[in-house]
Amino acid sequence: MTDDLLPQRLAGQVAVVTGGARGIGLGIAQRLAAEGCMVVVWDINAQTLVDSGFSAAFSAQVDVANSASVNAGVVATLEAVGRIDILVNNAGINGPVMPVWEYADEDWAKVLAVDLTGIFYCCRAVVPQMRARGYGRIVNVSSIAGKEGMAGISAYSAAKAGVIGFTKAFARELCESGVTVNAIAPVITETDLFKEMTAEHIASAKAKIPLGRFLKINEIAAMVAFIASPECSFTTGFVFDLSGGRATY
Ligand SMILES: NC(=O)c1ccc[n+]([C@@H]2O[C@H](COP(=O)([O-])OP(=O)(O)OC[C@H]3O[C@@H](n4cnc5c(N)ncnc54)[C@H](O)[C@@H]3O)[C@@H](O)[C@H]2O)c1
Repeated sequence: MTDDLLPQRLAGQVAVVTGGARGIGLGIAQRLAAEGCMVVVWDINAQTLVDSGFSAAFSAQVDVANSASVNAGVVATLEAVGRIDILVNNAGINGPVMPVWEYADEDWAKVLAVDLTGIFYCCRAVVPQMRARGYGRIVNVSSIAGKEGMAGISAYSAAKAGVIGFTKAFARELCESGVTVNAIAPVITETDLFKEMTAEHIASAKAKIPLGRFLKINEIAAMVAFIASPECSFTTGFVFDLSGGRATY
């Protein structure tokens, strides 16, 4: 469906998308905007923000792994656009690929800080004004690695599993508030990172997906737009699968 035919489910709402300057986050930002949302992008990389070409309602350089930076991002965003109805916690890093017995302290700490603690910081800072208004949609980006575990990326797998546990606990705390909290668990997705991967690696990743093809950014964005909309009203604490039939649980 072309963008001009999309339903305007998010008209009048404001979304913050973390890590929204490129890749999956940029795709989510573009989709939410196409559904009528005012989209605010937070990203650590100011240059990527500029290069993205996306005309956000507001953008801020925010490091999700730093609580002071997140808190400042909330203040600046509320000053600029007045409210946050939707929070998409998408910012994430992979970390080095190596076995646990070679993993360095600082690499482990960095991956956990961005991929797990960053989501906690953003949720804690954004949720008070959602609770006060009795409405909100929070979507946390986990991964198939958080469900299955993946050799070589133990910190990433642990962080993404942590995102699922955090999502379930936080959702229960908010059951009477009008705020839902859900996660998504995508498999490997067609992004620019493919250019850096070997043909063998790409082929072996594809072989694990029963649908026989890779996930596309617009498919993630479409699911996030639904979860972030008022239509997704009776689901909270859930992990939405985007695995092409791989995770049948
Ligand atoms: N690409 C995949 O195949 C895949 C699969 C499953 C899940 N995911 C998850 O989807 C999310 C997006 O992945 P992507 O492939 O688009 O990544 P990407 O590297 O292309 O983009 C990530 C964005 O996050 C920003 N970012 C990184 N650290 C940050 C920080 N500390 N604070 C704020 N912004 C920060 C980066 O500047 C970048 O703009 C991640 O959480 C990732 O783990 C990706």
